[in-house]
Amino acid sequence: MLKINRLKKIKSNFPVLVGDKVVEKNTCNLLIDEISKSKAFDDMIMGGRSRINKGSKNFNNYIKSSNNSAKLFKLFNSKAFYKKIETLFSKNFKDGSWTNTHKPKIFNQKKFTIKKKLNSSELKKLLGNNYTNPKVNLDIDFSVSKGGYRLRPHRDDITRLYNFLIYLTDIPKKNGGSLTIYRKKSKKNLRKSFRRFPKISELEVVKAFTPKKGTVVFFQSTPNSYHGVKRFIEKNCPKRFFIYGSYALNKPVIWNYKGTAYYPHIISTKKKMLTSFHDANYLTTAPKN
Ligand SMILES: [Fe+2]
Repeated sequence: MLKINRLKKIKSNFPVLVGDKVVEKNTCNLLIDEISKSKAFDDMIMGGRSRINKGSKNFNNYIKSSNNSAKLFKLFNSKAFYKKIETLFSKNFKDGSWTNTHKPKIFNQKKFTIKKKLNSSELKKLLGNNYTNPKVNLDIDFSVSKGGYRLRPHRDDITRLYNFLIYLTDIPKKNGGSLTIYRKKSKKNLRKSFRRFPKISELEVVKAFTPKKGTVVFFQSTPNSYHGVKRFIEKNCPKRFFIYGSYALNKPVIWNYKGTAYYPHIISTKKKMLTSFHDANYLTTAPKN
């Protein structure tokens, strides 16, 4: 279903693999049909992205009635495919690249990142402070965006190892909606701190991808994996159908770059938010709690 041998590394400051025609045109169209037919979506985020999320009742119903989505989900939600991706990254990005310190041995098919609002102490409690023997799980959503959808530059949840995007629609360049990869402009001695939401002035654009039918992007969710989506303008253009997912641990990921470990420090807040809204800073020292 996925021609992962078409994935090639690109020049970037963190590990990214991209390939076009990884998913066949016909399969993309069938997946679009299925998402379009979905009567219910779990939530709407970021100014216009409707999602069907793994873990919801809605998702289970959707999978039951959508053959192609079910096939794709089954493929991704397996230890074998996870291992393939892990191997693909370690082959393409050998020495001197980012690695996760504690490799997961157990793949948990049933688990997913909870979509519940938590404050920072609840989040810290949920994730714990023992980083060893993590388990890995798939998170995935089937999404459609209308005009106005955008994502400011950010890094994903601190539990994530790999993120992926499967684009199902061709979007003309003038309509925006491109996935943009950023690099932190900083002096060498400042590369020890990676905020989740840096100021746009701290970043420079490395690359922007215009969504194309069948293009797949995988990237490692390293402390510096800053990315965003330019505002999507829905004018004489189809809606932006895509699939977003990740392989995530049940605890925070400790990253290693050339022998230096990076630990996430969750920023304290009393505000209850989804895990994806919590700020965290990756530093070379372990948190004290
Ligand atoms: Fe993201």
